[in-house]
Amino acid sequence: MANDYIVKDISLAAYGRKELDIAETEMPGLMALRAEYGESKPLAGSRIVGSLHMTIQTAVLIETLVALGADVRWASCNIFSTQDHAAAAIAESGTPVFAIKGQSLEEHWDYLDKSFMFPEGPNLILDDGGDATLYILLGARAEAGEDVIAVPTSEEEVAIKAQIKKRMEATPGWFTKMRDQIKGVSEETTTGVHRLYDLVKQGQLPFPAINVNDSVTKSKFDNKYGCKESLVDGIRRATDTMMAGKVAVVCGYGDVGKGSAASLAGAGARVKVTEADPICALQAAMDGFEVVLLEDVLATADIFITTTGNKDVIRIEHMREMKDMAIVGNIGHFDNEIQVAALKNHKWTNIKEQVDMIEMPSGNRLILLSEGRLLNLGNATGHPSFVMSASFTNQVLAQIELWENNGQYKNDVYILPKHLDEKVARLHLDRIGVKLTQLSSEQAAYIGVKPEGPFKPEHYRY
Ligand code: NAI
Repeated sequence: MANDYIVKDISLAAYGRKELDIAETEMPGLMALRAEYGESKPLAGSRIVGSLHMTIQTAVLIETLVALGADVRWASCNIFSTQDHAAAAIAESGTPVFAIKGQSLEEHWDYLDKSFMFPEGPNLILDDGGDATLYILLGARAEAGEDVIAVPTSEEEVAIKAQIKKRMEATPGWFTKMRDQIKGVSEETTTGVHRLYDLVKQGQLPFPAINVNDSVTKSKFDNKYGCKESLVDGIRRATDTMMAGKVAVVCGYGDVGKGSAASLAGAGARVKVTEADPICALQAAMDGFEVVLLEDVLATADIFITTTGNKDVIRIEHMREMKDMAIVGNIGHFDNEIQVAALKNHKWTNIKEQVDMIEMPSGNRLILLSEGRLLNLGNATGHPSFVMSASFTNQVLAQIELWENNGQYKNDVYILPKHLDEKVARLHLDRIGVKLTQLSSEQAAYIGVKPEGPFKPEHYRY
């Protein structure tokens, strides 16, 4: 179909292509998969719906899936994260993509719906945060007569439920048909993985899922070292504020929190951490960060960043206590970490795209980044290519696994085996000049591994 895409400006394709060419040089894992599987095309016959930030790095992922034989249609998983030149380059290459930086919530769900429109329907989902999976499963439950779309409770829900209703009216039975022909999903992030395990608990996961997030070469790299680079990048591009000397509070000290705290500390900020988990709190303290209650630092901190994947972490009563011109942002997956909805009746002054100044009743002003959506992708360009190569190499391996060995999986959530995790790491060593020590067979036997790996037992935590 001609023009089977929605992008901001197709003439940005040439610029996107130049950045794609550079990104390829920083994504050795994906390029190695192209070399290994480009001829055999293990994804031939697959029709993949992708719902993941439409960035330059994702464009390299998409072109790798296509090089391996897949048919692909793509939408972004966030309204602010698209890089319009990346989307344009993908559209021009002939892969349908529906993504514009700054699209509305209604468009978000409409574009996701469009990404399912293969003539024969899709058979695999590649998800980030679980929206593509949620759309199909919620729609199928509605078609089964369950009362799941009747009463939306948030702006987000209004949009998805309106889109489900529209699709149900236009194509009765569509969601059930989609659900039944999907062979599996690979999920990128912590929040989406939580959703999948919940579905398993409720006996509602209708196809196998691969948890890409918990490959070591994903969460211990992208979530951590990725945020270490992209958090401060986002704050700087948004505000140009002097980071050194400022007091920054990081809520949550999981993988994203660890990278975020390191990011701010590296820029010279004095970093404090809040945590609910005693193990992560102890880690933060022993990494040298003061672990505090949010309530105790509201009036003194300059920058507040949520990294929890939880809801209502920074609440309206917190924001009322913050000092004038405090910067508030989120790097977790959804915007409900900060009670942005409670700010809607305040005076907003838009400074530039994805940066707003909000006047509080006291007269103090807050700078809110990306309306509370993940600021490293809203205010900057997300993680650098190199770390995304590790994440996306896992994604491609997961898609191959779901496609080639589908019958071996039940409707459960799986993690890729350790030898593949080690393979992903191995593919990234040369690019940065890492030399691996080769174990002798005696040494390997002494520590109970094979000389070629895997080098750690399943319970090892890295
Ligand atoms: P995680 O589970 O490792 O860490 C979250 C931490 O937050 C946990 O240690 C938990 O105890 C803590 N926490 C929960 N509620 C809290 C509260 N009210 N106050 C203080 N601490 C609290 O999860 P991970 O992998 O760090 O991911 C966090 C979020 O970031 C998820 O939504 C994930 O999807 C997202 N993410 C975003 C990325 C980005 O580029 N912006 C990259 C990767 C993940």
